[in-house]
Parts: sequence; structure tokens; C-alpha cells
Amino acid sequence: MSTLNDLLGESKIFHNREVFSPHFVPHKLVFREKEINNIERAIAPALKGERGRNLFIYGKTGTGKTSCVNYVIDEIKNIPNTRAKISYVNCRIYNSRFRVLNKIIGDHLPTYAKRGYGAVDLYERMRNWIEEDSKIFVVVLDEIDMVKDLDDLIYTLTRINSDVKAGGVAMIGISNKISFKEELDPRSLSTLYEQELVFPAYYATEIYAIIKDRSDAGFKKGIISDDVLHYIAATSAKEGGDARFSLKILSKAGELGEEKNTQSITMKEAQEAVRMAEDDSVYDLIATLPEHQKLVLYSIALLTQSGGTYKKLTDGVDTYLFSGEIYNRYKSISESMKKDPKSERWYRKYLSELEMQGLIAAFESGKGIRGHTKLIKLLYPSKKTRDVLERDIFGLNPHAQKEEN
Ligand SMILES: Nc1ncnc2c1ncn2[C@@H]1O[C@H](COP(=O)(O)OP(=O)(O)O)[C@@H](O)[C@H]1O
Ligand SMILES: [Mg+2]
Repeated sequence: MSTLNDLLGESKIFHNREVFSPHFVPHKLVFREKEINNIERAIAPALKGERGRNLFIYGKTGTGKTSCVNYVIDEIKNIPNTRAKISYVNCRIYNSRFRVLNKIIGDHLPTYAKRGYGAVDLYERMRNWIEEDSKIFVVVLDEIDMVKDLDDLIYTLTRINSDVKAGGVAMIGISNKISFKEELDPRSLSTLYEQELVFPAYYATEIYAIIKDRSDAGFKKGIISDDVLHYIAATSAKEGGDARFSLKILSKAGELGEEKNTQSITMKEAQEAVRMAEDDSVYDLIATLPEHQKLVLYSIALLTQSGGTYKKLTDGVDTYLFSGEIYNRYKSISESMKKDPKSERWYRKYLSELEMQGLIAAFESGKGIRGHTKLIKLLYPSKKTRDVLERDIFGLNPHAQKEEN
């Protein structure tokens, strides 16, 4: 199927742009039979009217978690007469207990949801809805780490199971974050992790197969050579085996070819596309950081721009920052936003998280400079980092809505 755009534009490159959209769900998910099978097995009890065990899915970005779960959800929708009901919730958008409950009710009882009830009413309504014909309700919480009051949400969803006389709720949580486990209350952890499924990163050969499929479907014949596809696959494998990243490169390379009005996508477009995609993905990553990590990173960007104490002491060109001055700035920013700054212990955790994500580098200062302290350096341009964070923190982000309830 081609879009109207393709017909009107008569692209030399694209046959069907839709297959490059981030919302496109491929019919065929290669190398994920085992994972799909595991998800099906986790949901199977619900189809038979039993609650089964909660499932937690973990894997780096672009390893196919969302696609595989949606694939299974689509399968279920085709099964007639099941008492199982399912909701898919993208917690990046529905990022609080209230919003999640409201979304779930909206999926299944849309007229009720529109009346603007509070969390308690939503809870009661949901409980009755489950009980009325002993439904099994499966809720998929994608990017679950984005929920601000997650322990409350898990507690609420679990409580339904002890409140109802029949039926129940089963949860499937999905996350890209390694450190997520540590931030959870132990009770939520044991609830959520009744079963665990890990999605491994893709190998270069696997990414090659994925983008080969997609380029056959999306580009005109003979537009892109195998060498270029192998190059994109190898680069993406090095960057963490992220299929989304490889598809982004592929479609950007196509757009570049089109802009230049070329007949084929060459290494040149591919290399340029890699650079552009690398840039984008850093700022996507920043947008998914937890709030206080954003504030710490924001402090780092601000201090980098103004030049920290180290620069003044050493006349250095490199803008290293003292860990202590960052903490002070972070504290005053938090306070000015009427948020409680976290303790230094948390702050040190945030620094190591940011370091692990490759956003900053940290060094021990060695003796001499103020005894022994940590020096921090921002690894991305401070101006752009600051802009992205300001848009996000100060509410110009399209997803940042006003607080409800
Ligand atoms: N096994 C696969 N086969 C085909 N396409 C895939 C596969 N895994 C991932 N993709 C594609 O890669 C992109 C990212 O996958 P996604 O499921 O969103 O990853 P995650 O949720 O783990 O971040 C999607 O556009 C999807 O179409
Ligand atoms: Mg996902």
C-alpha cells in the first residue's frame, strides 16, 4: 500500500514510507519466536479465565518489546468469546496512577470515563466491571518506569485481586531501564516480577535481516545495496543492538537521497544518516530520564555554559565541573521549583546513572585540587542539552500535561 504522498510526489526512492514510521507494526517479527511464545504463555491463563502470574519484560530500547507485545495483543483480539480484556498503556503519556486508571476505564467504559471522576470512583467502577462477569483483565504497562507514583499504581491494581469475588487483574510491565528494579518498593518488586522475560540486544546479522525486510517493503527496487545495509546493521549493533535506531538511519538515508534527488542510497547518505540519528537519539534519551536526573543534568549543562570553578582555577579549555558545585546548583534549582532536592547519596547515584548512559564522564581529581573530589564533564553540546531540558522541564513538552487529582 502506498500513501497519497507517494502517489503525488512520485518519489524515486520510496515505495511506501509508512513502513518507516515509528508506529508501524511489522507483520513478521523475526528472531523473536521464543519471546512471543513466552508472552503468549503468560497471557494464556487469562484466556481460560484464570489470573496467571504477572510478567515483567526487560530489554534495551529497540529490542522489539513493544512490537512483540502488540503482536500478541492483536492475536488475542481475534479470539472470539473470551472473558479476557486487555489494555495497552504507554506510560510515557499516562505517567501517573490516575492517568493509567483513567486510560483503562476509557478503553472499556468510555462514557463513564468522560464524566471526570476521581481515582476512588475509577477504582470502584473498575472493580465492579471486573466482578460483574468474572473478567480477567490484562493490563500492559509499557515504559512502566515513567509512572511517577508507580508503587501506588501497583498496589491499587493488586488490591483489586483481593477485593473482587471473581475475576482479576494480571499485569505485564515493560521497561528499558536496568536500574529500574532498585527504585521499586520491595513489595511492588515481588508483585511485578512473578515472571521475568529479558529481550537481548540484536546482533548485526539480525538487524541486517530486519532492515533488509523493511527496505524491500519501503524502497523502490534496487535503490540500496547490500553493502550499505550491512554498514547500517553493523553500526546499529555497535550502538547497542537497537532495531529502532537502524530503521531511523535507513529512513533518514532515504530522505537524504531524495533531497539530493539521487537514484540510489549510497554509503555517503548512510554515513550522514548515522550522524543525524546519533544526535537525535541522545536527546530522546534525555527526555526519558527520571525528573531529578534531568535536574542534575540541567545543572551540569548550565554550569558548563557559564564555566565552572575548575575552569577559573586552571584556565583550562576543558569544562570540568566539581561534583559539589553541581550538587549546590541542583539544590537551588530544585528549591526554586518547589521540589525537595534529593540527598547527596541519591545525587551520587544519579551521577553514575548519567555516566552509564554515556551523557557525562566522571574522573577522580587526584590530589592537589581541593583534596580529593569528583570532576564531571558533559559529553554533549551544552547549549542543545540545555534547550532540550528546558523544553522538557518547563512544560513546553507536548506530553507534559497539567497535574490532575
Ligand atoms: N524482530 C523484529 N522484526 C522486525 N522489526 C522489528 C523487530 N524488532 C524490532 N523491530 C522494529 O524496531 C523498532 C523498535 O522496536 P520496539 O518494539 O519499539 O522496541 P522496544 O519496545 O524494545 O524499544 C520497531 O519499529 C519495530 O518495527
Ligand atoms: Mg518500547
